[in-house]
Amino acid sequence: MDYDVRPQDLISFLDQVTRKAGQAVVSLFQGKFSVHRKGTSDTTIDIVTDADRASEDIILGEISRQFPSHDILTEETMIESTGSRWLWLVDPLDGTVNFAHGIPHFGISIALAEHDKVVVGIVYDPLRDESFLAYGNGGAFLNGGPIQVSVSKTLRTSVIATGFPYDRATSPENNVAEFCRVVTRVQGIRRAGAASLDLAYVAAGRLDGFWELKLKPWDQAAGMLLVEEAGGRVSDNTGSPTSFRTRFVVATNGLIHDELITRLRGDS
Ligand code: IPD
Ligand code: CA
Ligand code: CA
Repeated sequence: MDYDVRPQDLISFLDQVTRKAGQAVVSLFQGKFSVHRKGTSDTTIDIVTDADRASEDIILGEISRQFPSHDILTEETMIESTGSRWLWLVDPLDGTVNFAHGIPHFGISIALAEHDKVVVGIVYDPLRDESFLAYGNGGAFLNGGPIQVSVSKTLRTSVIATGFPYDRATSPENNVAEFCRVVTRVQGIRRAGAASLDLAYVAAGRLDGFWELKLKPWDQAAGMLLVEEAGGRVSDNTGSPTSFRTRFVVATNGLIHDELITRLRGDS
């Protein structure tokens, strides 16, 4: 880094920032907030709420005060890149549609990458006070205790999560074909509405696998590291190792990975 930051200090920083942002999100969830459609089209289903903005203001303020020379890629604000080797990836509220409908399932996701390799990632669920944290070669943790992926060996015994992109009505790349191929083969399938928490749940062994198309770097960067550090496997839909810029992420406990990819591709 520009100056030495011990992993422990980085972890404390992330813990404190996500809790502060989480408090703001929860107080809006329990009170009043407004919802706006993103873009100008009347048909768009992509929205932003006061909570996305309040959380982002807090997180950006803290990161730029503490690490002024680092770059930040965040969902709601365009920030020009300076070419720093350090990049923060911030989803200030993942699960905005849940939030807007009063569904208590959403999170805050922050990752830090050095030259596009994620070194630390956190996904915080403020309603359950669950903080999922991983750091490169350091393991994955839930509220400080180590977590591991599940031991399910087949799709038949697995619960798999996925999601659908906002442009699903207009784009043929909308995950419907993949969903149909997988849904008949698994014990259960979930569309809970917050990709970062889906990935954190794979890391914690609550889900056995997850896939999604067209996620953004801020949706998946922290969660991908969580799954890898919890002993799972993360790839694209060909099975190749991939980065947070992938347009098709597959993350599993490792044991069911090849079977899931085969089904997603419709190869059997
Ligand atoms: C969305 C959620 C959802 C996923 C979408 C994401 P947002 O993020 O993670 O689960 O299916 O693809 O865009 O808009 O709530 O931050
Ligand atoms: Ca998101
Ligand atoms: Ca978001």
